[in-house]
Amino acid sequence: MIQCPRGTRDFLPDEMEKRRFYENVLRNVAKTFGFREISTPIFEESELFILRSGPNVLSELYAFKDKGDRSIALRPEMTAPAIRMFVNEMSNEPKPIKIFYFGQCFRYERPQSGRYREFFQFGAELIGNANAETDAEIIAMAASMIRALGLKEYKIRIGHIGVLRQRLTDIGVPKDRMAEILQKLDKKLYEEAEPLLRSMNVAKEDIVSIFKLTETVGGKEVLDSIPGDAGDYLRSITDILAAMGVNDIEIDLGVVRGLDYYTGIVFEAEAPSLGAEKQICGGGSYSLSELFGGEKVFSTGFAIGFDRILLAMEKEGQVFKNEGIKAYVVPASEDMKLGASKVVAMLRENGIISDIDIMGRKMGKAMKYASVARAEYVVIVGMQESEQDAVTVRDMVSGEQTLVKIDNLVKFIMN
Ligand code: HAM
Repeated sequence: MIQCPRGTRDFLPDEMEKRRFYENVLRNVAKTFGFREISTPIFEESELFILRSGPNVLSELYAFKDKGDRSIALRPEMTAPAIRMFVNEMSNEPKPIKIFYFGQCFRYERPQSGRYREFFQFGAELIGNANAETDAEIIAMAASMIRALGLKEYKIRIGHIGVLRQRLTDIGVPKDRMAEILQKLDKKLYEEAEPLLRSMNVAKEDIVSIFKLTETVGGKEVLDSIPGDAGDYLRSITDILAAMGVNDIEIDLGVVRGLDYYTGIVFEAEAPSLGAEKQICGGGSYSLSELFGGEKVFSTGFAIGFDRILLAMEKEGQVFKNEGIKAYVVPASEDMKLGASKVVAMLRENGIISDIDIMGRKMGKAMKYASVARAEYVVIVGMQESEQDAVTVRDMVSGEQTLVKIDNLVKFIMN
């Protein structure tokens, strides 16, 4: 038997119905914030991701040569494609540009619970300005989405990578070794960061002060301990968020983020119930457009890990009720088949989700099938009834059977 490739999944109808439902919940929130949906190709020129993250990124991608010898990669995320699209096709439009997207991404990672090689992101980018209003708008939308999905246990942490980068530069960390240090700080691996910093001749007290900075965590009160403009900037963001009713956030200067293109604020949301892969959303502000041949434009964005957030909702016991069919039409005998086809066509014309027995089941088995299919009603098309231009409708919950004129059937079922 051929299985689906490692790190990928099939989604059965019940699961797909649930995924589409929640995808639309997110879509509706994005629309209420004035964002509009885009779609970009599932594969791009590998160069796009190399420009964004350096050639090492290839080892994390599904990258290959196509038949025309072009280097192609399946997208590992959608920010770079969205900004490429903006540079190519939207750069003359009035700013800000507010776009969102939903789709699958591919990363060549070791699969585990909550980590897949094919996974889905719901993300958004606000292109146009590096200011607190932009950042707050994005964080508020991410928070609204998490809330709209009904997740209860989560934490949103906001940091400022600009502060950390500046401090690291000031104490003598060379630009080309910044990512190395940031990665260690991201994971709070201080014991590994220390010898690295020493090898760069960073003074002991500076190392201590950097570690302390990444441990600046808490509510608004910690903003006072953040030096310079960054503290004021973060305060403006939290003030706007508070005005928008978003108070469930935490300041954490230790938020670094795995991707290295962020320049200003960075934020993450996590669901503790998920254990190791608990990050359900990540984002921040950055500028990539100049790398892709456009003018330098600042943006802020985020992406929700759709699969992970659904897992977290499940872990919290949130149950999705799948919709069944409304009516299951069964011909009582062979010669009632055409009559049944007419009835089911009429119901469908009227927008009623209906199905018809095509397996030639006997009435008892057809009833059983209808109950598995979660049908609300079974419509029996029988000879005697049809002589009176009627059908028998069985309510599958109460078991009650009613003779209903075909002309009244739609109304009866809709009520
Ligand atoms: P990211 O943090 O790499 O950011 O991914 C966003 C979210 O995608 C993560 O928080 C996580 O929930 C989910 N995710 C990542 N990898 C996997 C995986 N292998 N399996 C399942 N879920 C995964 C970005 O991708 C940025 N483009 C976000 C952004 C948008 N920044 C600015 N704009």
